[in-house]
Amino acid sequence: MAAMADAASALDPMLPRAGRVRRRRREGPDVWTLDIEAEGTDGWVFAPGQFNMLTVFGVGEVPISFSGDPVAGRLVHTVRAVGPVSAALVRLGPDDAVGLRGPFGVGWPMEEAVGRDVVIVAGGLGLAPLRPAIYRLLGERSRYGQIVLLYGTRSPNEILFRREIEAWRRRLDIDIEVTVDHAIDDWRGHVGVVTTLIPRATFDPLHAIALVCGPEVMMRFAIAALHDAGLKDESIYLSMERNMKCAVGFCGHCQFGTVFVCRDGPVFRYDRVRTLLGLKEI
Ligand SMILES: Cc1cc2nc3c(=O)[nH]c(=O)nc-3n(C[C@H](O)[C@H](O)[C@H](O)COP(=O)(O)OP(=O)(O)OC[C@H]3O[C@@H](n4cnc5c(N)ncnc54)[C@H](O)[C@@H]3O)c2cc1C
Ligand code: FES
Repeated sequence: MAAMADAASALDPMLPRAGRVRRRRREGPDVWTLDIEAEGTDGWVFAPGQFNMLTVFGVGEVPISFSGDPVAGRLVHTVRAVGPVSAALVRLGPDDAVGLRGPFGVGWPMEEAVGRDVVIVAGGLGLAPLRPAIYRLLGERSRYGQIVLLYGTRSPNEILFRREIEAWRRRLDIDIEVTVDHAIDDWRGHVGVVTTLIPRATFDPLHAIALVCGPEVMMRFAIAALHDAGLKDESIYLSMERNMKCAVGFCGHCQFGTVFVCRDGPVFRYDRVRTLLGLKEI
């Protein structure tokens, strides 16, 4: 029976697979990471930057990026509670049921990055969709040039994956700068928006590629700062978020002209979506 359900879901991207939460970890105010086990599947192949549609039965379904290690093949998602479905997701505890459809979308350009410096600019929750790319870059470290991670949050208690960032720092083969908009408590690090870190970062703009994820206003300023640093539009990639329903290019909910964010994105080269940034819908 489970095998039949599996075969059906492999054919029908609209059919959620059954899953269960195995573990959940608090990452910050309203943000939780869920480890999910999907029934009847061995591992889960996804590319950094792709997403799943997660269902809380009786509540609804939302797109959530993978935030775990693509090599491990585990289903890890980091969710901020902003509305009914995401709030229901973060309330799920061990053994609670969850539905999954995916993986969907086009992810980060990991092959285009080979041999180049990689500059990662993340704002707030934007580090979650970038974390699989960081795992890939560090897992295949010799394939890439300089790796720079610039991460900004509003306040120190919103820094995601804190212990992991500290462990990455100890490796010495990735440059990491973290900044907060507002220093509180005993914060002794950099204060200011994440874009202020870009001019200080060390990379070769002629041979670098930038991966940017965060609130759209932050991405617009980050792109301007990357331009000032010498990067061209064709070397800048960003992940766009738009409301979604089907996630497979059928319903048009995420459509902008000829672009479907669910199918053609969510990761786009900047020159392909320059005119769409800031638009809510067309
Ligand atoms: C490709 C993709 C990947 C995503 N990855 C993650 C992730 O890893 N972790 C995470 O917490 N969230 C992620 N999101 C955003 C998440 O899907 C929304 O927060 C969720 O759909 C909100 O649903 P809700 O019912 O909880 O709240 P709603 O009531 O639907 O929305 C609450 C508020 O959030 C806004 N909102 C809703 N959906 C979006 C959206 N897609 N983009 C921007 N604002 C939105 C609404 O305008 C409203 O202000 C992703 C979205 C997309 C499109
Ligand atoms: S969500 Fe339906 S077309 Fe993209």
